[in-house]
Amino acid sequence: MLDFTMRDYLEAARSITERSLHPEVWTRLQAELRWRAKQGPLSVFEAGAGTGTMLLRLLEHGLLQRGSYYAIDTDGDLLAVLREHVFTWANKAGVHVEAMGEECVCLKTEQGDLRINTVQKDFLGYMDSFEPGPHYDLFVACSFFDLVNPIVSLEKLKVRMKAGALLYLPITFDGVTSLMPQLAADLDDDVIRLYHKSMDTRRSNGMVTCGSRAGRLMVHHLTVCGAIPMMVRSSDWVVNPIAGKYRRDEIFFLKCMLGFIEDALLKQKEIDPFQLDRWLRYRNRQIREGKLTFIAHNLDILFHRPQA
Ligand SMILES: C[S@@+](CC[C@H](N)C(=O)[O-])C[C@H]1O[C@@H](n2cnc3c(N)ncnc32)[C@H](O)[C@@H]1O
Repeated sequence: MLDFTMRDYLEAARSITERSLHPEVWTRLQAELRWRAKQGPLSVFEAGAGTGTMLLRLLEHGLLQRGSYYAIDTDGDLLAVLREHVFTWANKAGVHVEAMGEECVCLKTEQGDLRINTVQKDFLGYMDSFEPGPHYDLFVACSFFDLVNPIVSLEKLKVRMKAGALLYLPITFDGVTSLMPQLAADLDDDVIRLYHKSMDTRRSNGMVTCGSRAGRLMVHHLTVCGAIPMMVRSSDWVVNPIAGKYRRDEIFFLKCMLGFIEDALLKQKEIDPFQLDRWLRYRNRQIREGKLTFIAHNLDILFHRPQA
């Protein structure tokens, strides 16, 4: 069982995600959003919004001024943290903020009202809960598509995005996890293979998910369903000690990654528990000694729907 909460993990992962986002993709997204915001209020839909990593980034860069933001997540505790973060951000930024019922926060910016709606629901269930129609200008899903079925997700999304709408999938895991220095090649390979297998065998709503190769699969499925590629770049998480020291949040983040790996392997029961214990003790010692480097390969994916 994991000995940390998803909230604490996501808060630690936030600074690592921030520095990993590919600047060119982000610049392109910003330019697109600034242009679209001039045409009218923006309507944004985020799947698996968690504690609000992407929402806060969009707010901090002044990219959301008026319109509506729908933050969907199955975990209501994380959405409560997201709402708290919006209040904290608004108070610091001097933006008027008020709660509108339990699940909506309204920001009054210089350009108008921005309503942030948090919805505790499964992503596919949410899309089934309203009439199909072109509602959204931007769809966001950060570190999310390994968890859901790509084909059904895109079929449902297709009829809910406006013509020309943007689809932004940053930090989409793409099949490589590395921990260095090596302990023993065979054991390291077994651990990572089984960790990725746990993602590949995961089911969501009874359906297969993108799993460990989500990045490349989403590029493929988006193309097949007729979306137009704008930019795809690497956004790897790299955590490495500098002169034996880690930066803010990195030690906790690394321990979480070991926790996810341990949890996945214990559930599968395919590895000798003695060998797993040996591997974990070695990796934990490397963290304590400031020697462990961790890399997860991700893609930042930006597409748009055809204009007509
Ligand atoms: C890896 S976290 C990423 C969170 C956030 N996007 C970020 O980058 O900080 C995945 C999030 O998706 C949510 N989630 C998982 N399956 C979901 C589903 N089927 N529908 C909606 N949310 C889901 C989880 O609760 C979690 O908050």
